[in-house]
Amino acid sequence: MKFSIASLALLATSAAAYHTCSDEERNMVPKLCGILDQATAAPEKLADELMNSPISAVAKEIEIPAARVLKEGEAKALPIVVAHGMGDSCFNSGMKSITKAAGAKVGAYSTCIPTGDSRIKDTINGFLLNMDASVDVFAEGVKNDPELADGFNAFGLSQGNNLIRGYIQKYNGVEGYPTANTFMSICGINAGVGAFPNCNPEGKAIGGICEGITEILGDLAYNSFVQNILFQANYFRDPSKTDSDKYKKYSQLAQWENEGDDVDSSRNDKFAMTSQYVWVLGTEDTVVWPREGEQWRAMDPEDPFGTLLQWNETKWYKEDTFGLATADSANKHNFESFDGQHIAFTNDELMGWLEKYFM
Ligand SMILES: *[C@@H]1O[C@H](CO)[C@@H](O)[C@H](O)[C@H]1NC(C)=O
Repeated sequence: MKFSIASLALLATSAAAYHTCSDEERNMVPKLCGILDQATAAPEKLADELMNSPISAVAKEIEIPAARVLKEGEAKALPIVVAHGMGDSCFNSGMKSITKAAGAKVGAYSTCIPTGDSRIKDTINGFLLNMDASVDVFAEGVKNDPELADGFNAFGLSQGNNLIRGYIQKYNGVEGYPTANTFMSICGINAGVGAFPNCNPEGKAIGGICEGITEILGDLAYNSFVQNILFQANYFRDPSKTDSDKYKKYSQLAQWENEGDDVDSSRNDKFAMTSQYVWVLGTEDTVVWPREGEQWRAMDPEDPFGTLLQWNETKWYKEDTFGLATADSANKHNFESFDGQHIAFTNDELMGWLEKYFM
């Protein structure tokens, strides 16, 4: 009898997809807890709100070129893995078209790997499944696709790049997980964001997910509860707090950068297995601050809201914390930019980068 009640309780927990806050958690982060409630009670409505939020990076539908025909004796390019941005999903028409177009352009298999098995879950998980957990789900998606077994090239949009970067530093070379060969990060948030400017256009947060995010952009960002839930908190890197004990202890990004308490040189070894990196910056990007972080530049901790360092002046580079400098010595870094807002590259620009780096 006791056993069956316990099983029922377990069933109920696994059916309720998202965490329900305790009173204490609700007192600490009421807005975030409200969004979690909505994820369970009205997931479709929440997914639609997230897709339309001012910080979302939803890809436009693009034209699909004719499939490339290989020349006689020409080797087939590696298959392509694509990762979508915040508020988007692999099940949306924009990502479907980008994935298809990339494969057609280079003449290879291509696939977009989601972190939820439906549009609604994939969209919500871009917020409410934390970054480390999302990387693990993404990695299972890669592992379970037999087309990718011999390695792949990958590109992401916006925070989708964090999944690929996380995969590289945790799964490259691990048995059963194919290695990411070339990684092209388009408007990637690999260096984190120090603010969410689009959530705060006139110094005031505007509704929905922005309220949930704004609520944690102070001392509340770096604790295990918030870090276990919110993907955006995982890569929130307040440039004035990178030396703080809480950042070093709790921030998931701090661990990826090997600038936190959990320093692990295997992350460097895995980063070194990828043969080429392409860092694409949108020169008018106002979703990511500082936008130059898309190419590994960062604010100077001595002047966190004033001075922007060159990428090779950052601690990451100078101390080679996770392998950026090692990769530079091996000439693996490529820098590209386009004149536009977050992920607002043109079709021709995307096709050009694919031709240059994936063929
Ligand atoms: C650092 O990077 C900048 C920008 O890419 C470059 O101009 C400069 O030469 C680099 N400095 C060193 C010491 O490599």
